[in-house]
Amino acid sequence: MFEHLKPAPQDKIFALMAAFNEDERQGKIDLGIGVYKDDHGKTPIMSAVKKAEQRLLETASTKGYVGVGGDKAFNAAMIDLALADSVPAERVRAVQAPGGTGALWVLMMLIKRSNPDARVWISDPSWPNHTPMVEQVGLEPAVYPYFDRSTGLVNFEAMIETLDGLGKNDVVLLHGCCHNPTGANLSLEQWGRVADSLERTGAFPLIDMAYQGFGDGLDKDAAGVRLLASRLPEFVMATSCSKNFGLYRDRAGCAIAVGESARTADLALKQMLSAVRAAYSQPPAHGAEVVATILGDSALRAEWEAELEAMRNRMIANRTALAEAIRERSNSTDFDFVAEHRGMFSLLGVSEKVVERLKDEDAIYMLDDSRINIAGLAEDRVVKLADALVAATR
Ligand SMILES: Cc1ncc(COP(=O)(O)O)c(C=O)c1O
Repeated sequence: MFEHLKPAPQDKIFALMAAFNEDERQGKIDLGIGVYKDDHGKTPIMSAVKKAEQRLLETASTKGYVGVGGDKAFNAAMIDLALADSVPAERVRAVQAPGGTGALWVLMMLIKRSNPDARVWISDPSWPNHTPMVEQVGLEPAVYPYFDRSTGLVNFEAMIETLDGLGKNDVVLLHGCCHNPTGANLSLEQWGRVADSLERTGAFPLIDMAYQGFGDGLDKDAAGVRLLASRLPEFVMATSCSKNFGLYRDRAGCAIAVGESARTADLALKQMLSAVRAAYSQPPAHGAEVVATILGDSALRAEWEAELEAMRNRMIANRTALAEAIRERSNSTDFDFVAEHRGMFSLLGVSEKVVERLKDEDAIYMLDDSRINIAGLAEDRVVKLADALVAATR
């Protein structure tokens, strides 16, 4: 059975994580894997999550199936968190999914069933799982320009020129906020221009929002998506509770489909449910129950929002401190973009050789493409990173 198989490519992030764990040097810095870490390098359970879990432990009365579409209270809360009142409720449908990845899969299956010949346009660069996922559902991936490595910012003119040339068979995968891996994001005005373009061409948006609340706040991070939602007849969006609720291993996410009318939204929902039923039957319950409990209780919600705000502010403080430390040492503004970026990541734009050198000489770990996880930087390591980076790029 397996003899003729070729070895499948392994995810580089996990190899990097293993190398970091084996490194015995004091003061090593892990800027690799994309999970939030506090100043002690820990990924803590949020206190609102702990309290919700305690409540569930005391009140849960069944382990019966949750149903193919998952927890209705969770789905309603996720729609509200992402879209607020930007689109009439009768046009919106959602299913609970196993994480943001599961939600993306459900939506890609929906796209495949709606238009088997669709091409899915992915930003250059993007989360490394986007292209394999598009290929796995049998759709064709394509690439649109996004990041300007010379400035560290979005190359918006190149992006919009590509989008303007698309048509009805095209799907545009947009990061809702906190772009992974670059950290460079669209301004609200640019989101408006993307909406103009999609309106004109009929290309269909698939939005991936895995980091709501990690950039400028829950509502500000969703402002671009809500602008699209208020203007376009149809779109789909995957949301994730992995980062903003810290529920990585509990696999809580939501696949949201917005139709032109209640009738077409129902058609989309039925296809999503049938795809889920044939793939994994039902989503896991626990993480979604935790989220629904938090979002449905004003005190827990306030506590969660405050914790999220503290995480966000810490990432922004790290950004400012790193950009300043580099500027002082290099006498240049070359890395100032780090302070402008938002979310957990920044793509530094340095060569693989520099990345290797930082690992070998300074025990500083980042992805090959020079993506850093800004949350992985403890306050007392900022100077070490700035020194090493300036020395390696001189
Ligand atoms: C851009 C992007 N989309 C989706 C996901 C999926 O997250 P999860 O499946 O863990 O919820 C991630 C996680 O790293 C991501 O960075």
